[in-house]
Amino acid sequence: MSRVPIPRKVTLSFTWLSTGALFSRFFSQMADLSGMRKPYHSTEDAFDIDHLVSLDPMQQFKAWLDEACKEKTILEPNAMALATATKDGIPSVRMILMKGFDASGFRFFTNFNSRKAVELNSNPRVSMMFYWEPLKKSVRIDGTVEKLPEEKSTEYFSVRPKDSQLGALASNQSSVISGRHALLSTYQELQEKYAQQESVPKPEYWGGYLVKPFVYEFWQGQTNRLHDRLRFRKLREGEMLDESVMHRGEADWIIERLSP
Ligand SMILES: Cc1cc2nc3c(=O)[nH]c(=O)nc-3n(C[C@H](O)[C@H](O)[C@H](O)COP(=O)(O)O)c2cc1C
Repeated sequence: MSRVPIPRKVTLSFTWLSTGALFSRFFSQMADLSGMRKPYHSTEDAFDIDHLVSLDPMQQFKAWLDEACKEKTILEPNAMALATATKDGIPSVRMILMKGFDASGFRFFTNFNSRKAVELNSNPRVSMMFYWEPLKKSVRIDGTVEKLPEEKSTEYFSVRPKDSQLGALASNQSSVISGRHALLSTYQELQEKYAQQESVPKPEYWGGYLVKPFVYEFWQGQTNRLHDRLRFRKLREGEMLDESVMHRGEADWIIERLSP
């Protein structure tokens, strides 16, 4: 029996049909998260101006961080997302660990050749975000960075575990490498080099930044999505205090409630 040749046009449309069907099946299985939602806070325990423990935003941050530190299911309460942008506004974000704060600002450490550091060199503006999921609370902080003095970076580097010190030395952070083996062999060479030493000297391309905050936003989730958002900011030049929507905070901070 002779075979009926399938015209090329038909084969193509079959290919398209099956690819399209597969694609939509994949998508319907992979992308439908519409049912994913968890309860947050109830209206009874909303977060309002009266609930602030301080009118100084850093003290308020400290109170929430303390709460997060006491919550055993939060393993890294100091973990935060740090957003930077190039000079022309192309953004990037990554997780980092905040390593301390005081009245001068928030400290974190990194490699000065990394993508974030290159961006910070040309644009010192950052936005950072803590989210403590079990508490349904988050804090966003906008600010500008400056490098910490070299001695502060050296001081912190010296208290890091030796493995982390070697890791910082082995990694030219954010650069492309041929594979994990390349990283490991550099690490092993460094382990041998510093085998007799208890600690490792800080490389000059590694150190800390200080984020000097100019806006804080405290967010607490509500199950009905009427989330609480309290923002601390400074008055802009020439701006008058509008007492119908602004509350006086400590120093020259003003506090406003934002719509969720
Ligand atoms: C929880 C967590 C904490 C991190 N802490 C730091 C940190 O403190 N400093 C750092 O340079 N990278 C840290 N990283 C790695 C960064 O997320 C990122 O991969 C790295 O800094 C390179 O980012 P970049 O290429 O955008 O500069 C951390 C990652 C995670 C998930």
